[in-house]
Amino acid sequence: MDVKNAEYVATYVDVKKCPETFMPEYAMIGRSNVGKSSLINYICNHKGLAKTSSTPGKTQTINYFVINHSWHLVDLPGYGYAKSSQTKRAEWTKMIHNYLQNRKQLQYVFILIDSRIPPQALDLEFINWLGEHNIPFVIVFTKADKPGGKDTLINIEHFKNALTETWDSLPDMFVTSADRKYGKELILKFIEEANKEFSTKDLLSN
Ligand code: GTP
Ligand code: MG
Repeated sequence: MDVKNAEYVATYVDVKKCPETFMPEYAMIGRSNVGKSSLINYICNHKGLAKTSSTPGKTQTINYFVINHSWHLVDLPGYGYAKSSQTKRAEWTKMIHNYLQNRKQLQYVFILIDSRIPPQALDLEFINWLGEHNIPFVIVFTKADKPGGKDTLINIEHFKNALTETWDSLPDMFVTSADRKYGKELILKFIEEANKEFSTKDLLSN
């Protein structure tokens, strides 16, 4: 699938206010600064569409983008930002958990993992939380500026090993670099297939 059109829709802080549409959606989540907003811009071929920053904690709200007039990409704030206050973290948890548990249009969560570092407890905990709540997700390794490089491959292997300790089977995984513009084709193919599985019936049931 090609992205022919990508537009910013709006920003929300409460899942109850998110648009009542019949479009499937895919949310980017992961530790602060992992590259969620950059990945959205790369997928959409649109620098500046989602706001990025070298300072962690840039995205603080639920941001909607509509792609090809038919599905949504959602940019979420990052977790694990060490400098944020306890109150802020509690707010984050409430907003994100509410969104993930209640948003019927959500087809898959894309959980972003920094391919440059070893497995982080916070990421594994978050993945386990998604599993406990039956929220479908895939894993996207980011910042793989040398996708076949030894360090990248070792970190990804370690991450898979860490997951195998709690999971019987591994989710779909993608390796990307927004800087080098690597890896979006397989993600778009995955979304194209997932869009076909999307049923508006689920939206009507309560
Ligand atoms: P928050 O909204 O603060 O949670 O961050 P985010 O996850 O949206 O990250 P963002 O896209 O703003 O990127 C954070 C930093 O990582 C920026 O300085 C980006 O330039 C950098 N970055 C993003 N993608 C890549 C990549 O593929 N390779 C490299 N080397 N840097 C990247
Ligand atoms: Mg961001």
